Amino acid sequence: LSVRVRIMSWAEAEPIAGPIRFAIFMQTRHPEGVEVDTRDNEYVHAVAFDEQNKAIGTGRLLPDGTISRMAVVTEWRRRGVGSAMLDALVEEARKRGYAAVKVVAPMQAMEFYRSRGYVPDGKIEKAGDTLQQPLRKPLAD
Ligand SMILES: CC(C)(COP(=O)(O)OP(=O)(O)OC[C@H]1O[C@@H](n2cnc3c(N)ncnc32)[C@H](O)[C@@H]1OP(=O)(O)O)[C@@H](O)C(=O)NCCC(=O)NCCS
Repeated sequence: LSVRVRIMSWAEAEPIAGPIRFAIFMQTRHPEGVEVDTRDNEYVHAVAFDEQNKAIGTGRLLPDGTISRMAVVTEWRRRGVGSAMLDALVEEARKRGYAAVKVVAPMQAMEFYRSRGYVPDGKIEKAGDTLQQPLRKPLAD
């Protein structure tokens, strides 16, 4: 996979990640609604780039171990970009000493997280017209 993932602050990520997130979550009517929220400054962000240095995906990690707003542009899906970003965020979480990472996955993203070792952590929730499942992955070695 000729994709590069960089970890960056929101100041650096916003102009790159903002448009990707906006395009993808407006299409899928993401239950959380807003595409850029006030918590972005608290997160570290993963941004994936193709060989031409074009940004093709983004995701973020909060200090409590929550990963959210994972998004890969449609033409790059199912080629390991989401996994590469998730790995980068998990590596960052490990570096910071977090015990686990968590994510609330909409149903269409469940297989993605389950295939990466995430297990259900609580009941399925309804958010707007979408169902989502809290998931967790322990980081103990
Ligand atoms: C979820 C998302 C980030 C996954 O990114 P991706 O780059 O396509 O994921 P990968 O290629 O790394 O997939 C890894 C594995 O996850 C599983 N997977 C990914 N997408 C899947 C799908 N649509 N259906 C079933 N399994 C899927 C597969 O097991 C896949 O491995 P395989 O391709 O070898 O079978 C991407 O589909 C996306 O942007 N979706 C829309 C936004 C969204 O729902 N985000 C989640 C909010 S937290």
